Amino acid sequence: MAFVTVDNIFQSYGKRPILERVSITVDEGAFISIVGASGCGKSTFLRLLLDQERPTRGQITVDGEPLTGEPNRSRGIVFQRYSVFPHMTVRDNLVAAEALGANLFGILPSAKRREVRERAMRALDRIGLAHVAHQYPASLSGGMQQRLAIAQALAAKPRILLLDEPFGALDPGTRERMHEFLLDLRAETKMTVFMVTHDLPEAFKLGDRVLAFDKIRWDPHDPEAYGATITYDFDARDGGIPYQRIKEETHVLDPPREKPLASSG
Ligand SMILES: Nc1ncnc2c1ncn2[C@@H]1O[C@H](COP(=O)(O)OP(=O)(O)OP(=O)(O)O)[C@@H](O)[C@H]1O
Ligand SMILES: [Mg+2]
Repeated sequence: MAFVTVDNIFQSYGKRPILERVSITVDEGAFISIVGASGCGKSTFLRLLLDQERPTRGQITVDGEPLTGEPNRSRGIVFQRYSVFPHMTVRDNLVAAEALGANLFGILPSAKRREVRERAMRALDRIGLAHVAHQYPASLSGGMQQRLAIAQALAAKPRILLLDEPFGALDPGTRERMHEFLLDLRAETKMTVFMVTHDLPEAFKLGDRVLAFDKIRWDPHDPEAYGATITYDFDARDGGIPYQRIKEETHVLDPPREKPLASSG
């Protein structure tokens, strides 16, 4: 049975349509990557899934229940952004996130505290933040804060994790480590992930499906007349066969190197 069902969603701000006729069903445990031009409504779509705003038309159900505008954490829907507590150390941010995820109102029984702290330290070690475990988030660089926010969202072991360009500010090596961290935790917890990214190789590497948002109706005299919808739904398992073909035929992402000159001797 479908876990998340998005049924004919429309969203407008004032008179301006942003999304129209968006429908999909997603199985529990699926990893959905979302791509599309800037401003086409990807973050809006995540906010609708988070139940932070209501669609103009249509309905979203999770596990058979329509979203109702009630607090999300208890239903296990977690958004990666803006969740770091500034008054807690880096390690305690992860500890608190796990307690909140377990519905303990942030309070852990003392017998469990040690175990959770150790788990937090292991997570920090994996994402290269162990050396700042006892500092406060404000003393971290932007990329480090970003990693902390992701680790925190994951520590809550959500049923649904919403990620909005989570690895944007990271260098390639750190990004690779975060990918592995995310994939391992996902395999462990079977969570369902929706991730917006502008990085196509990343979308196909991490996703089981890649959804592309775009406008199918376009008025050249009024570019804002219509909203975007899901125009492609790629099967991205096994590296994404359609994508592989695009890559091979166009060499856009891997330009052919100059052939070495044939030796004349
Ligand atoms: N609360 C709001 N009120 C009015 N307009 C909004 C609101 N939120 C978003 N918009 C508009 O809706 C459109 C879609 O915004 P959204 O942030 O969803 O785009 P996006 O696809 O996430 O873009 P990007 O890739 O740049 O993050 C934008 O034109 C934006 O200006
Ligand atoms: Mg956005």
